[in-house]
Amino acid sequence: MNYYLRMKEKFNALKDKEDVLILAIESSCDETSISIVKNGRQVLSNIVASQIAIHRRFGGVVPEVASRNHITAISSVYQEALLQAGVKSSELDCIAVTYGAGLVGALLVGVNFAKALAYSLDLPLVAVSHVYGHISANYISHKELTPPFVCLMVSGGHTALVKVEDYNKLSLIGTTIDDAVGEAFDKVARVLSLPYPGGPEIDRLAKSGQKSYNFTVSNSLKNTFNFSFSGIKTEVVNLVHNKLQRGDKLDSENIACSFQEAVTDELSAKAVKACRVTALNKLVVAGGVGANSSLRGKLAQLCKEYNIDFYSPDLKYCTDNGAMIASCAYFMIKDGLGLAKLDLTAKANVGL
Ligand code: KG4
Ligand code: ZN
Repeated sequence: MNYYLRMKEKFNALKDKEDVLILAIESSCDETSISIVKNGRQVLSNIVASQIAIHRRFGGVVPEVASRNHITAISSVYQEALLQAGVKSSELDCIAVTYGAGLVGALLVGVNFAKALAYSLDLPLVAVSHVYGHISANYISHKELTPPFVCLMVSGGHTALVKVEDYNKLSLIGTTIDDAVGEAFDKVARVLSLPYPGGPEIDRLAKSGQKSYNFTVSNSLKNTFNFSFSGIKTEVVNLVHNKLQRGDKLDSENIACSFQEAVTDELSAKAVKACRVTALNKLVVAGGVGANSSLRGKLAQLCKEYNIDFYSPDLKYCTDNGAMIASCAYFMIKDGLGLAKLDLTAKANVGL
């Protein structure tokens, strides 16, 4: 039988199969991750080879360096994923891979590895969007969670409020008109001479600081669900430069705390407002910035006040990982979506 017809048959058969074992590959930025997940919610292994230490000396991710390191890591990450899961490659039902959004060179390593694997194991290949993957991280951490809900998607590349109507049906409520929030965290950290990635460093430093600066976030967007972070970022950068020029002491803790407070006030207030406007009483946070302690605290508090159920992924599933991609692929398969051909390629940007 024709190869693609055979793949289509195998893919369709997974719709009604009781147990589906998916191996998923994630390489969109600086983490090489491969995970094996059963039925979308049970993680058997989730191996993450982080390149943070490599990129730290450059102050941020260098795309070419990231691609080369994915190539070096991916085969052993694959072996480790099978070993930890106690699964043989012959037991897998499907190969899933992040095809975008992200760094094209980095994505290509994962996509090509996935294609070779799917072809050699004679398994269907499923192409997953990174943003959908981040949302699915919550299905792993909360076995009872089902759509519909509102999702606050906050990462290094995305900032959005999304209405998740069903597993594969998303509509945009609001988004950033300039920088992603993670990008703003990383830039503020950089001007404070904190190591990459800056978000966790700001989070840590802010704990010993006070909100002594009144930074402002997007006044003109007050009555919308959109965000803007380039203004506050520039405000912080200018403040730091002025202080350094004057030879003043840099109170980095207070700057970090004031920045973080302003940003998390804005994100949490709009997220809860989105729940009220859409009449949905479930709020989910997703993406790397979802690991931020101030943001998680404020969302939990506000949700309690407004009687909204709040869900956040375990910290290890907030930042990039293969498990969230496998989970997402499972719900795509059940809806008959995502079957890819062997000409699948990487995309820097992917719409909702
Ligand atoms: O989701 P992610 O791993 O990759 C993208 O898809 O972009 O998110 C990475 C971003 C980085 O900007 C990083 O600084 C930020 O998430 N981040 C945090 C925290 N942990 C990671 N930002 C604020 N507080 C944190 N605790
Ligand atoms: Zn991500």
